[in-house]
Amino acid sequence: MGKKGYSQSLRSKDLLGIEELTKEEIWTVLNLAKTFRDVLKRPIPIVPSLRGKTIIGLFFEPSTRTAFSFALAAKRLSADYQSFSLAGSAVLKGETVLDTLKNIGAMRVDGIVIRHQNPGIGQFLSKNLSSFVVNAGDGSREHPTQALLDAYTLLEKKKSLEGKRILIVGDILNSRVARSDLFLFKKLGAEVSLAGPPTLLPPEARSLGAEVYYSIDEILPEFEIIIALRIQLEREKGVKKLPSLREYREIYGITRDRLKRIREDALICHPGPVNWGVELDFEVSYDKRSVILNQVANGVAVRMAVLFLLAKGEMSL
Ligand code: CP
Repeated sequence: MGKKGYSQSLRSKDLLGIEELTKEEIWTVLNLAKTFRDVLKRPIPIVPSLRGKTIIGLFFEPSTRTAFSFALAAKRLSADYQSFSLAGSAVLKGETVLDTLKNIGAMRVDGIVIRHQNPGIGQFLSKNLSSFVVNAGDGSREHPTQALLDAYTLLEKKKSLEGKRILIVGDILNSRVARSDLFLFKKLGAEVSLAGPPTLLPPEARSLGAEVYYSIDEILPEFEIIIALRIQLEREKGVKKLPSLREYREIYGITRDRLKRIREDALICHPGPVNWGVELDFEVSYDKRSVILNQVANGVAVRMAVLFLLAKGEMSL
């Protein structure tokens, strides 16, 4: 897919965030994902690379895309994959996450994919377990595989992110995707800007190396890549950060009218789930610049690459 000279492995036993990855490691995942994307196009899209490995998916927060694509990725690599259902677990009887994981670890699990509301849960587990840990979203901190699949999707269309201007618009404050995307895109040489209401922009936005904007009408035509983010009302915790969703759409939504101000060669992304009629008008779903479903499709190949590298798979294609 891209740069030559990438390494064949990751330095850490875990994937907890983009911040700690080198540019070479990012290319390692992206190039391997390309190999697996080709495998997924075959009539029988399965390889035996992780035969005998056991991976557990633990989702303490809701997920459709991430949970399903990790399960599919593991199965396409011939691993045994088991999803942990919070609803039927002893967590509801008061068992701690660490105890839950120690018990699962005692059953000889090779890897754990975890989504949890607590930032840094992956680091905590990594120190306490010998299995590899993949962060599938920890509170508002990081969502590394989303950033990797976003980069993969953009690189399918743009070949390089070097010097590209990328606008991330929406609820930046609560967004682990925004943080992981920002780290990754900057490592690949892009210029990243963040836009949203002042109440949804974190105070450290500029110190992370991003330009910050409070309105988008003037700046939209400048960007080749636009990433809209979901408004995460569930994280408001009783403090209202927005007067109304209608007002948000009027100022920051990618509406039918604003689509006319976006470059013809631009790409429009959204990690999902989308609040249609809030951050995106439904017209975006069939606009040729939208790559939202490409992101979902590429998620399986990118997650295959991550699982393969961490589980030290055998390349038998
Ligand atoms: N993008 C994303 O993380 O979606 P899910 O919450 O459905 O996994």
